[in-house]
Amino acid sequence: GPLGNGYTLKKDKAILVAGGIGVPPMLELAKELDCEKTIVLGYRDELFLNKEFEQYGKVVIATEDGSCGNKGECTGCHPCRRVSMVRVIYSCGPTPMLRALKQYAADNGIEAWISLEEKMACGIGACLACVCKSKDVDHHTNVHNKRICKDGPVFNAQEVEL
Ligand code: FES
Repeated sequence: GPLGNGYTLKKDKAILVAGGIGVPPMLELAKELDCEKTIVLGYRDELFLNKEFEQYGKVVIATEDGSCGNKGECTGCHPCRRVSMVRVIYSCGPTPMLRALKQYAADNGIEAWISLEEKMACGIGACLACVCKSKDVDHHTNVHNKRICKDGPVFNAQEVEL
């Protein structure tokens, strides 16, 4: 160990989209990325870490209940609807959000990197509790699977089925 990978850091104009429990892991990425970036943070209601993100890029907030920022899911707010203005998307959060971003990226020919957070058991690539469907055949299982703990958790969005 340690197993797992991280985001592929690009110098292109980027949008970081984080929702709920996907917010904390994106802070380090925001620090590391040396490029122009917009950071979209989605919350159910209560905000956290939003101030910390502000020193690393333009922050846009969305809350499901509309108590702060845009009302609704973060994929519905302005920067996400204008996602074709960016060259690369980085995201971490709930599967419906990742699925929507994957579709935006595919429709607009944009590179997208997503971090999948699944339930895990062994964490060493042996039990297959964490697999997700993949476009290509995995050399370990010989089926269309990726082990999130070992092959991910970050994938090019077009590599995996959501
Ligand atoms: Fe066991 Fe990933 S948690 S293979």
